[in-house]
Amino acid sequence: MADNKTRAKKQDDVILGETGRPYHGFPTPEKLDRHGPARIIALCNQKGGVGKTTTTISLAAALASYGRKVLAVDFDPQGALTVGLGVQAHDVPTIYDLLLDTKRDPHEAIVPTATEGLDVIPANIDLSAAEVHLVNEVAREQILSLVLRKVAPEYDVILVDCQPSLGLLTINALTAAHGVLIPMECEFFALRGVALLIETIGKVRDRLNPSIQLDGLLATMYDPRTLHSREVLERIVEAFGDDVLETVIGRTVKFPDASVSGMPITEFAPQHPAAQAYLRLARELVSRGAVA
Ligand SMILES: Nc1ncnc2c1ncn2[C@@H]1O[C@H](COP(=O)(O)OP(=O)(O)O)[C@@H](O)[C@H]1O
Ligand SMILES: [Mg+2]
Repeated sequence: MADNKTRAKKQDDVILGETGRPYHGFPTPEKLDRHGPARIIALCNQKGGVGKTTTTISLAAALASYGRKVLAVDFDPQGALTVGLGVQAHDVPTIYDLLLDTKRDPHEAIVPTATEGLDVIPANIDLSAAEVHLVNEVAREQILSLVLRKVAPEYDVILVDCQPSLGLLTINALTAAHGVLIPMECEFFALRGVALLIETIGKVRDRLNPSIQLDGLLATMYDPRTLHSREVLERIVEAFGDDVLETVIGRTVKFPDASVSGMPITEFAPQHPAAQAYLRLARELVSRGAVA
């Protein structure tokens, strides 16, 4: 597949990116001389298979490669983030244990990954019981926020990989978050449901978390060779304008390959355009101020 620059169109001597705006590579982030407190970003879309987990893993590793201290939180009972980072979640404390007993020290559940600067709080199928348990708790929407606040001082960014639903777990993630990143697949039904998601973010802003921001919509699985993919991306940009991040993630089988290996794409195939795209996404988010 062509890289971002060769894929970009040239018009009136200005190189345009996939979203039709002038192409920016974004500068390499400056090294940080101190760490924390973390900005918390929820990766959220109630549609499954749109690239939430892939983006959490790849972005987390890309930010870590720029010297950021990153904590990835698996907040989906499927546990794909945990597995994708090469971590096992049997007989170890998980995010579920932290939600159920907020007196517990969250450090007990933090596991370092093979990627320097990237830690994970794992999840497994136990988490599917959490909503039932939390429903009768006092301030049930704020439990994750309570947990993450205790570790936020040590990290620059915390990425929360949400499950594909708008249930209580996702509301917890949105209540804990400073920002939301919405991955969207460049496919026909992509726009369906995003209005409801944005409405939900609005409700969380009104009732639970007044300062929550939309950090951006990320187009994923883009295939520039198909008219369909190009048209969907055009529709997404028409609907959401500058909220659509300039970085677009191409469709490639390297992602399934990387998850089987338990390695982020930035390490599995660092020169691949898809790895380069996630590094660019990391730089774009730092340029936008979404990450330190
Ligand atoms: N850019 C991409 N190109 C091709 N396949 C992808 C891409 N991003 C993700 N995938 C694959 O699509 C599937 C769903 O992605 P995933 O990140 O798990 O989505 P979600 O977390 O939103 O359910 C996975 O098998 C993943 O490997
Ligand atoms: Mg997922």
